[in-house]
Amino acid sequence: MSDSLGMASELAGQALRTGWYFALNRVVDWRTLRLGMARRYKPSRPVPSLQELLADQARLLLDDALAVRDRLCPPMEGPSAPLLHLERVGRMLADLPEALTRRASADATTARAEAAAAAVPPYYAQDFHFQTGGYLSERSASLYDVQVETLFMGAAAPMRRAALRAVCRHMRGRDQRRMTLLDVACGTGRFLRQARLALPALGLKGIDLSRAYLQEARRHLAGLRSAELIEAAAERMPLGDASIDIVTSIFLYHELPPEVRRQVTAEIARVLKPGGLFVFLDSLQIGDRPGWDGLLEGFPVRFHEPFYRHYVIDDLEGMFTQAGLAAKSTSTPFLSKLIVRCKRHGAC
Ligand SMILES: C[S@@+](CC[C@H](N)C(=O)[O-])C[C@H]1O[C@@H](n2cnc3c(N)ncnc32)[C@H](O)[C@@H]1O
Repeated sequence: MSDSLGMASELAGQALRTGWYFALNRVVDWRTLRLGMARRYKPSRPVPSLQELLADQARLLLDDALAVRDRLCPPMEGPSAPLLHLERVGRMLADLPEALTRRASADATTARAEAAAAAVPPYYAQDFHFQTGGYLSERSASLYDVQVETLFMGAAAPMRRAALRAVCRHMRGRDQRRMTLLDVACGTGRFLRQARLALPALGLKGIDLSRAYLQEARRHLAGLRSAELIEAAAERMPLGDASIDIVTSIFLYHELPPEVRRQVTAEIARVLKPGGLFVFLDSLQIGDRPGWDGLLEGFPVRFHEPFYRHYVIDDLEGMFTQAGLAAKSTSTPFLSKLIVRCKRHGAC
């Protein structure tokens, strides 16, 4: 396939995918309204129009298609297992009244009832996003991806691919077979799968505190060259000093208490080899796009995100510098912030 054809088919596929999740996003809003459980909240800061959001999302998809054209990354996979996907969409919609009822009473405690809760830190045993079972149940692990993509109108995967591009750029001219990437808080393995498809010989590891999510990641990575999945806390990683070439962390930091963010950063700096790459992707912060700050203000009103209000004003760049991670680049793909750093070593 010619480069332009590849780019066009990537754009077409992504546009269809976006349309599907946009429709699901509207269905969820409509059901929430019908149930009389919409949350009225007027942010004090400005919010973007839907048009503005969609235009920026289109730019995200275009950047991805250009990377495919330039052979930096392979195209994003098309849909697989459509029946399983539809079954999960059905279960997400069926779960909605329960989650909204808990939201109405500010109850984020179902995770505490899970058997796994005894073995995790208390800050973690809560129903993030009001997900039933928090991160600790199989039901939550099976619904997470469709819930997140519905919330982001299909942009979660393309935002992760912005992190993937940073990794692929770093790998140009390097020998994959001798290198290892660690995805901290790998969740259901969506990023690891993309990384495996782009870099088939790279050593891959993922760490997450949720056994149920790691199980889902195993399912998701089945059939590909294996990745090592480790059940552990990011603030105490069972990995040697200077043992990893690339660390990625996607949508984790906004869910950590401020002091744990610093512990995790110190751990990342510890396990990275000198000159190793750190690729961080998470929510925008206040001031990154001043016209969008109202969205960040409204997010923790709609979803249980106990540490988000601090996250959006935290000094991430200062924290990374203090841990010995030197700045390479910072950008804001759509609703996310992508920070690329490297462990200080000579001119890195
Ligand atoms: C919002 S999800 C993001 C998952 C994945 N990175 C993605 O791109 O979808 C947050 C993930 O962080 C994990 N997590 C939260 N706190 C953690 C910690 N202290 N140590 C390890 N994993 C943690 C959760 O189990 C969950 O899988």
